[in-house]
Amino acid sequence: MGGTVPVWALNLTEIVPVHYGKSGGPPAQFLSTASTSVMMYTMSARSGRRPPIHHNADYDEIIVYAAGPGAWGAISEPGTMTWVPKAVTHHGPNEDVPEGYQAWLLETRSTMRFTSTALQRAAPMETGLYGYQAKTP
Ligand SMILES: [Fe+2]
Repeated sequence: MGGTVPVWALNLTEIVPVHYGKSGGPPAQFLSTASTSVMMYTMSARSGRRPPIHHNADYDEIIVYAAGPGAWGAISEPGTMTWVPKAVTHHGPNEDVPEGYQAWLLETRSTMRFTSTALQRAAPMETGLYGYQAKTP
């Protein structure tokens, strides 16, 4: 066996987010299965309109906020993951953040579920700016 080992690394700062001027539009994936059942995107700051209220009927959306200095909606702590299960209507924060932020987006046709341990640590979020809802005892 020889050649290049097929293990890769890519930093978000190497990916230029696709933008559409003032009109806004969907991001473009940079990593995907052939069937597009799993796709990855940058969800980092970009110019354009705030995404419309939408639901993604076919994909669970997982976004991991990686770095500031800017906040993505109510999310400003690096390492925070948000998860919108498929078919849940949501708005999502403005991505046109002048000070910038870095975030990953994973879309998967698989139906994700937290483990019971992770569910105990997770908290519900509202679907506009992804601010934490008050935890109920
Ligand atoms: Fe979304």
